[in-house]
Amino acid sequence: MEYEELVNAAIRARETAIAPYSHFPVGAAIETTQGKIYSGCNIESSSYGLTLCAERVALFKALSEGERQFSAIAIATAVDRFCPPCGACRQVLWDFARDITVILLSLSRKIDIMKMSDLFPHAFDDGFLIHG
Ligand code: THU
Repeated sequence: MEYEELVNAAIRARETAIAPYSHFPVGAAIETTQGKIYSGCNIESSSYGLTLCAERVALFKALSEGERQFSAIAIATAVDRFCPPCGACRQVLWDFARDITVILLSLSRKIDIMKMSDLFPHAFDDGFLIHG
């Protein structure tokens, strides 16, 4: 399967999730156009609103290492459904990774593949900002 390594990285990342309040571990792995993979897990704060989602952790790790071009992200939760990224993650993924492929994994490893533009149509982005 084309996305096997990316899928495995997302599932591995789920193991390191810090989710003592929600008990909803999430793993994500994002791939650059050069084939490099960065993974992330959700990290919950005792001040709940400061929690970071797995998708943004993976993306920000990659961005902070200088990566700017992405091709796909895989997301693994611990429920046997296809669980898409939250609204905040959709905005940030659109900002930095645009119309990448999104691979959703159910707990039993079934796979659903879509594009960011399917999940996030009519997006706001920097194209709307007026620069002085
Ligand atoms: N979560 C993610 O990591 N990614 C998502 O796209 C949805 C939600 C996390 C945040 C929180 O730690 C837990 O899942 C429950 O919302």
